[in-house]
Amino acid sequence: MGRVIKAIAPHGGQLVNRLVSEAQRQEFLSKADFLPKVQLTARSLSDLELIAIGGFSPLSGFMGKADYESVVIDMRLHNGLPWSVPITLPVSESIAESLTIGTSIRLDDPNGKFIGVLELSEKYTYDKLKEALYVYRTNEDRHPGVKVVYEQGNIYLAGDVWLMERRAHSQFPTYQIDPAESRQLFLQKGWRTIVGFQTRNPIHRAHEYIQKCALESVDGLFLHPLVGATKSDDVPADVRMRCYEIMLEHYFPQDRVILAINPAAMRYAGPREAIFHALIRKNYGCTHFIVGRDHAGVGDYYGTYDAQYIFDEFEPSELGITPLMFEHAFYCKRTKGMATSKTSSSLPEERVHLSGTKVREMLRRGELPPPEFSRPEVAAELAKVMHQMAIAEAATEFQI
Ligand code: ADX
Repeated sequence: MGRVIKAIAPHGGQLVNRLVSEAQRQEFLSKADFLPKVQLTARSLSDLELIAIGGFSPLSGFMGKADYESVVIDMRLHNGLPWSVPITLPVSESIAESLTIGTSIRLDDPNGKFIGVLELSEKYTYDKLKEALYVYRTNEDRHPGVKVVYEQGNIYLAGDVWLMERRAHSQFPTYQIDPAESRQLFLQKGWRTIVGFQTRNPIHRAHEYIQKCALESVDGLFLHPLVGATKSDDVPADVRMRCYEIMLEHYFPQDRVILAINPAAMRYAGPREAIFHALIRKNYGCTHFIVGRDHAGVGDYYGTYDAQYIFDEFEPSELGITPLMFEHAFYCKRTKGMATSKTSSSLPEERVHLSGTKVREMLRRGELPPPEFSRPEVAAELAKVMHQMAIAEAATEFQI
């Protein structure tokens, strides 16, 4: 008889579910016009969604001051459980003043639709500079994550949340797979070990290489591109998802890979975000998580492998998901294949280094990424879309 397959435990032990029941939904709807209202940004909406579907387990709401301070300084929740990025709901002082602790607050999405409820338990001030320095390791407002912190409201609201309805990602209906479902899917497929892959860039050869290297030693690959808010020069999520569809069609074994969207917003917090990304994938049921070069980094704020070193600050058992680290992968002209300095003796001039940033720059210049960078079908798709975007941008600029 085969061994019984058991899914990995979610972070904190229980998968959180904060989707309202039908009865609660009707009750909230009947009160909708009388509840005080807070309008969410795209990022807060992503956070609400991830809390509700269990992606941020054990969080059941936006963090109170004790958890927030402990996370910022020690990368742990107040109860000691590892957690590296604050999940908070910022509002202006005037909005905060109008809200009463102990009451239900209506949460609207950025279009004004009633999407959730916050059981307000706390409002507190916080130190933006401290958050920037601890979480992002810089106080520069050029950093896109720090910029958000500096520009957001001065008060954090805290409390448990409810999501009124599962926001349909209408662009990606087939790929909206929530943690409870992915866990079920992995069991159905008989996978004991699953490696999660975070990405915010169009897939290039280095991504494919590290995904496949990882897949050599586990049962399944969970491709989990982030589709929440990213900085404006990142390639849009729908384009990236199309590139993944192309890759699955031509270059991956269908029965070993699941493609799903991660609704999270990007923070660009480098090392801290690598831990955060790993914990989210643990909640989706992954046993392993890929951390390559400059994971979740931006500009030159973080060292190439800082996002790997940070895992040493935790006991493996308290994270409960195993990071699979990869060195900077490049195309090796001598062997005509992908490699890293661990596996190649080629000379520096024989190595073609690639990155999402380089691919974006080439596309912007109207150049097609070469086959050493991107699979030709993906390069063609990217070139087509970027060309259309350039025309649209020019049209806006010249008011055509
Ligand atoms: S990220 O912001 O989501 O980390 P990206 O989509 O570029 O950006 O990277 C996804 C994953 O692939 C990350 O773990 C990153 O470290 C890794 N990665 C990207 N490019 C390379 C490369 N050339 N070599 C090794 N790992 C890489």
